[in-house]
Amino acid sequence: MTADATSGPGALPMRVPAEGLPARVRIYEVGARDGLQNEKATVPTEVKAEFVRRLAGAGLSTVEATSFVHPKWVPQLADAEELFPMVRDLPVELPVLVPNERGLDRALALGARTVALFASATESFAKANLNRTVDESLAMFEPVAARAKGEGLRIRAYVSMVFGDPWEGPVPVGQAVQVCRALMDMGADELSLGDTIGVATAGHVAAVLTALKEAGVAVEATGVHFHDTYGQALANTLAALQHGVTTVDASAGGLGGCPYAKSATGNLATEDLVWMLQGLGIETGVDLGRLTATSVWMAEQLGRPSPSRTVRALSHQEQ
Ligand code: HMG
Ligand code: MG
Repeated sequence: MTADATSGPGALPMRVPAEGLPARVRIYEVGARDGLQNEKATVPTEVKAEFVRRLAGAGLSTVEATSFVHPKWVPQLADAEELFPMVRDLPVELPVLVPNERGLDRALALGARTVALFASATESFAKANLNRTVDESLAMFEPVAARAKGEGLRIRAYVSMVFGDPWEGPVPVGQAVQVCRALMDMGADELSLGDTIGVATAGHVAAVLTALKEAGVAVEATGVHFHDTYGQALANTLAALQHGVTTVDASAGGLGGCPYAKSATGNLATEDLVWMLQGLGIETGVDLGRLTATSVWMAEQLGRPSPSRTVRALSHQEQ
């Protein structure tokens, strides 16, 4: 114990388990993809590779590495071909985003083992992000999913704008569930429910999870992906855990956003999530000290402090 046991390096929350929560949570780390895709300055490939290595070294077992999307749409990740071979031998799962068969070809050529499709619950975002209607984008994913299955890959399927959309407002639960169901029917192994612009609140999360269960989607196959625009990401995560969710997406240091949804801010910070889970006695396998050091290092590379409250408290980083 340090003199100031509640902040600074080495501080940990008091462990007080609560009823009805899972014993273990898989943290799906998205900082290197969702975080860095939104950076104005292009981060050097070697820095990205070092970020992924440090995240794996901090105990994160799933580290989304990059995207095989059109390089003009997301120039920040245009170095996917250089980056992936630099990290692919790490002993962790390294999913990559693929929107179409061209993306799958590129991922397969480099030996990717998990691919993530990304659909939208709304027409406006499907158009902005994929240049397709919702139905056209699902039709684009069908052959990708079939081929990925045939190659023995694991498939994650994101659904964006599950809760609200900057152009269309609140999204009806049934509309989001329909897109989720279509992706599971294509053979997705897991879903990730995207609150792309961070407008979800806990009751809404519970309603979507209940509707998904009613639609036959197992909670074991359902992950949550909260952006923290309104400070609700941790509350929403707790609501999801209470409904049996055991996969939670988060971004080291709270990096993130989405280049095609201007109102999106960073994801739930992985450190904030780990602090809560440790306090609840929920296993994650993550070393909070090493993770915080990684985010402090990354913040230095980016030239600005991390927005994560936990990173700031543990590192005494200047605001
Ligand atoms: P398009 O312009 O309609 O593409 O874009 P197209 O199919 O008409 O093809 C046009 C040209 O692009 C062709 O080349 C293709 O080969 C090439 P040409 O024949 O003209 O020379 N092309 C590609 N090149 C490299 N890699 C590819 C690729 N695909 C086509 N994969 C497309 C359609 C889907 C490609 C485009 O809209 C795109 O790349 N979108 C990606 C947008 C993106 O990455 N957004 C961020 C990720 S989603 C997110 O952040 C949300 C999430 O975090 C969850 C949440 O928070 O909600 C996951
Ligand atoms: Mg996102």
